[in-house]
Amino acid sequence: MQEIAYTDYVVPFLNQLPRGAFLTVKSGDKINTMTIGWGTIGRIWNKPVLSVLVRYSRYTYELIKNAADFTVSVPLNKDLQRAMAMAGTRSGREADKFQECRLSPEPGHKIDSPYIGECGLIYECKIVFRQKMEAECLDKELREKFYKDNDWHEIFHGEIVGCYLAE
Ligand SMILES: Cc1cc2nc3c(=O)[nH]c(=O)nc-3n(C[C@H](O)[C@H](O)[C@H](O)COP(=O)(O)O)c2cc1C
Repeated sequence: MQEIAYTDYVVPFLNQLPRGAFLTVKSGDKINTMTIGWGTIGRIWNKPVLSVLVRYSRYTYELIKNAADFTVSVPLNKDLQRAMAMAGTRSGREADKFQECRLSPEPGHKIDSPYIGECGLIYECKIVFRQKMEAECLDKELREKFYKDNDWHEIFHGEIVGCYLAE
């Protein structure tokens, strides 16, 4: 693993995101991973920040709401579509997705949450702000398109404390 600047792979990250990346969280003795397709990388509070959106219905939400940190693992050269589809439809409530999707949780370098060993690009993030969405603050069209069933996202902003490229 080679540590890189968080800015080095922003374009590959954003290009992969619509196809999916893995959000992995540890809380207490529980770990889980799920597929995400939305996220942003930027600079807030003079810090590099990666933000992810997690709906209340996800098992991941139950973990991340009490967690200190998370990782985002991005497939670069490997085809992990099958694992991605499974991690994005099955819930950690029902199954150990690491076993089921054949994904290896590797211990984080600087944080408690593990990352996915099969991925080429890893962001380690310390949660610095969590934000519930207020319905009336969102564009009406988006509200109707994405939140008809009231399953809102909470947005977790993580300071990027490590960014790594698998060798
Ligand atoms: C390509 C793709 C992208 C997804 N993006 C998100 C996302 O950004 N936020 C979210 O809450 N769920 C997203 N999901 C849905 C979750 O991955 C899915 O509901 C998963 O089964 C939740 O697992 P969990 O219950 O173990 O947390 C996505 C699913 C797919 C297939």
